Order: sequence, then structure tokens, then C-alpha cells
Amino acid sequence: MNPAKGKENSPLVIVTGGAGFIGSHLVERLLKDGFQVAVIDDFSTGSHDNLKDFAGHPQIQIASCKISECVHLQEWVKKAVFIYHLAATVGVELVMKSALQVLEDGFDETRVLLRAAADAGTPVLLTSTSEVYGKSSRDSFDEEDDLLIGPPGQPRWSYACSKLADEFMAFAYARERQLPVIIARLFNTVGPRQTGRYGMVLPRFIASAQNRENLKVFGDGFQTRCFCLVHDVVEALVRLQKCPSAAGQVFNIGSTEEISILELARLVVSTLESSSGVEMVPYANAYPLNSNRDGLERSQISPVVDDMRRRKPSVGKLHHFTGYVPRTSLKEIILITARSLAPTAGGHQGG
Ligand SMILES: NC(=O)c1ccc[n+]([C@@H]2O[C@H](COP(=O)([O-])OP(=O)(O)OC[C@H]3O[C@@H](n4cnc5c(N)ncnc54)[C@H](O)[C@@H]3O)[C@@H](O)[C@H]2O)c1
Repeated sequence: MNPAKGKENSPLVIVTGGAGFIGSHLVERLLKDGFQVAVIDDFSTGSHDNLKDFAGHPQIQIASCKISECVHLQEWVKKAVFIYHLAATVGVELVMKSALQVLEDGFDETRVLLRAAADAGTPVLLTSTSEVYGKSSRDSFDEEDDLLIGPPGQPRWSYACSKLADEFMAFAYARERQLPVIIARLFNTVGPRQTGRYGMVLPRFIASAQNRENLKVFGDGFQTRCFCLVHDVVEALVRLQKCPSAAGQVFNIGSTEEISILELARLVVSTLESSSGVEMVPYANAYPLNSNRDGLERSQISPVVDDMRRRKPSVGKLHHFTGYVPRTSLKEIILITARSLAPTAGGHQGG
């Protein structure tokens, strides 16, 4: 890493979590658009493989550390024209295993970044998640909706709460320190470089279909989701950066093509012309909990994961501000993702 390299006249953009699934596509796009890009990533779930096609680009600088441990943070934030904050502990399986990491890291790292950004007056886009809508039963989620989170005894809600705390903190910085912040609530995002290791349903289904193994559907399979191609998400993120009136606003980013997880499994099998079957797995078997950990009685922790029945974004606001909404069809997404995937993966569904 060399903070001095890169063309001095190109504007600098910081991407935290830039070695992750979505972050690496964003970095690639920003480099193509002529920006200098500074990546801060501790490689906890990100990988060098995600960056391999452009890691040698003269306009990229990479700090392999937590945001709070980045010695270049102040210097880069002062120089940067924009910051994308994507670093977070992501995936249902990871969240179920380590809620402490999700909560502590989420809060501490975001606070360090926002404080530095406020000191320098550098605008920040913070990626939040559709999980913050919680148990809401609305047909589609609107940015102004009330949020209905489950109880704190269920570690599954730690991720939503961590992201919600980030959102509250970002708005507090906007109000009290005049920091321009944009909140992007991402819905299920899929595509090349996403791994099934941390509980993502589509790469797991595709890998099973490619390996001619049964596709495991958790619960009754009637829970629905909308899957958006990562390149469409990146396009929306880039357009928000260019939209000054987006500051101080929350935006949903996602596809509106809704499908049940059972139908998705069948669509993956038919699209990839696989001989795999579809197997139903009860949630209790999908997410076994360690009993009596941290002094909690088993009765305080529901063994059943609260999986949301529907999760569809309203994207009218995104369209109104940027003129863009994601449009790639699910069939196309399956084909694009399948072409990019190695033939083995595992994990649980979520995202
Ligand atoms: N993938 C989705 O469907 C989805 C949906 C909603 C929201 N999001 C949000 O989008 C962002 C990116 O998600 P992703 O799917 O690319 O996940 P990812 O795990 O691939 O990327 C997260 C990146 O952050 C890095 N990271 C984690 N903690 C860090 C820290 N303290 N300091 C520096 N780097 C750190 C990881 O190594 C990884 O590279 C996350 O904020 C996530 O909450 C993703």
C-alpha cells in the first residue's frame, strides 16, 4: 500500500468493506469511472480474490485492517470527496454465532468513521439493510415506515439493531455536525463473488444444483424475497453519490421481482437444467443454538429463527432522486451468478 501513489488530480473515494462482495464491485466501478479509491478492509469476510482483477491498478490503495486501526484514516478522509461505508459483519449464520462482534464492531467502527468524516466534512453513504424493517407485514417497505424489531433474546435481531444504531448515529451527525449522510437500505443482493459460506441462499442453491445435490429450503419455503443483481445495486450507489439532494435521506435499493424461496429453488434447478431435488429443512435443524451460553436460560432464547415472510422494497424514492431502479431479471441473475461460481459451497440462507 502506498498512500502517495495514484494520479493526484483524480478525486479520491473511500470504500470501507471494499474487499467484500458488494464493495469489490463498487471499487471496480469507481476505478473504471476514473476515481482514486482507498479500500479499508480487515478481510474478515472479504478476500484478496475479490480484488484480484484490479488490485494492481495504479489508482487503488488498500489498507488491510479495521477502520479503527487504519493509520491513514484521517489523511484519506480529509482528501476524499466521498466515503462509502460497507464494512460490517454480514450473514445470518455469522450473526447467530457472534452477535457480540456484530454489535460491538458495528457500533465502534461506524462511530470512528463518522467522527472522522464530520471533522473533515466529507459526505458518507452508509449501507444499511432491509432487516431493519423487521417483522413488518406490509406488502412493500417504504423508507418512512415504522420499524418492528424482534426481542433482544434472539441474536438474529442483533444485525438489524446494529444497522439501525448506525442509521441513528448517522442522522445525529447530520443534525449536530452538519455531516452530509445518505442511508442506503439494501435488500437481498446477489451475483458474482458472493459466497454461500455465510448464509446466502442463492449461491448455496446454485452450488447445490451444479453439484447435483438437493437444494435445502428452510421452513415451509413460502417466505418470499426479491433478489437484485450486485451491478444494479452498484449503479444505484454511484447515482446517489452524484445526487446532492440525497443527503439526509434514506433509500431502499433492491429488486421488486418477488419470489418464494421454494419457487427460487425450483427456478435454479430448471434454469441450470440440473438433476437436483429440493429438500425441506425445519428451521430448528438449520440454525441449532448452543444452550445456556453466556448464562442465559434456554427458555430465554427462542430456538426458532424469526424468518420474515416477505421483504419487498418500495423503490419509488430511489427512482425519483436518481432516475434509476434495478431491472435485471431473476433468470438472468441466476445465469450470471452460476457462470461465476466454483462448483462447491455450503451455508445457510439469508442475506
Ligand atoms: N449482500 C446483501 O444482500 C446485503 C443486504 C443488505 C445489506 N448489505 C450490507 O452491504 C454491506 C456489504 O455487504 P456484503 O454482502 O458485501 O458483505 P461482505 O461480508 O462480503 O462485505 C463486508 C466487508 O467488510 C469487511 N469488514 C467487516 N468488518 C470490518 C471492519 N471492522 N473494518 C474493515 N473491514 C471490515 C469484511 O472483510 C468484508 O470485506 C454490508 O454493510 C451489509 O450489511 C448487504
